[in-house]
Amino acid sequence: MLGYPVLGTDATLPVMLSEFPMAFISIGQIETPEPRLRIFSLLQQRGCELPVIVSPLAYVSKHARLGAGTIVMHGAVVNAGAVVGRNCIINSQALVEHDAAIADHCHIATAAVINGGVHIGAGTFVGSNSTVRQCVKIGEHCLIGMAQGLLADCEAGTSTPPLKRPT
Ligand SMILES: CC(C)(COP(=O)(O)OP(=O)(O)OC[C@H]1O[C@@H](n2cnc3c(N)ncnc32)[C@H](O)[C@@H]1OP(=O)(O)O)[C@@H](O)C(=O)NCCC(=O)NCCS
Repeated sequence: MLGYPVLGTDATLPVMLSEFPMAFISIGQIETPEPRLRIFSLLQQRGCELPVIVSPLAYVSKHARLGAGTIVMHGAVVNAGAVVGRNCIINSQALVEHDAAIADHCHIATAAVINGGVHIGAGTFVGSNSTVRQCVKIGEHCLIGMAQGLLADCEAGTSTPPLKRPT
């Protein structure tokens, strides 16, 4: 893949984990955090170290905190006082403003804007180019589609816009 050899599969993971002390989850996340969550738990159970990865083209304030297994991609900004949980994706060009709090297993997609003091519950997805007003609270397991403007709090499990098909 992209010129790199594939060393194994899910089936060979246990053997590989006894050989390599660190792992990183590169599965994506839109509609559900479940696959990433499942692998995260497995890796933790096996005592695997999950490093934080920050692109050299990203900016993360020295006053921000990032949890284990989180990645900050190219061009993203995480400003002072922001706290990002474990196993999150802060995707390319996303902005996590000052004092925002993002819980575990969230994906902040490309060019999304999480303004100052926003709280986001675990397992939530915020789509590309969506903007969340300052201090808004978004519950757990929400699905915020692309290009949304979020002006008010969202209860856990909210989909915006509402999905038109059964899940
Ligand atoms: C919200 C979302 C998950 C819905 O996906 P879906 O259920 O497959 O929806 P569909 O694409 O089949 O669209 C269903 C309808 O909702 C509308 N719709 C879908 N997403 C929308 C959005 N974000 N804003 C406004 N309308 C949207 C579609 O236009 C369509 O309308 P229609 O029935 O009148 O034609 C998806 O559109 C989305 O926003 N995904 C996030 C994309 C993203 O940010 N990717 C970044 C990865 S890094």
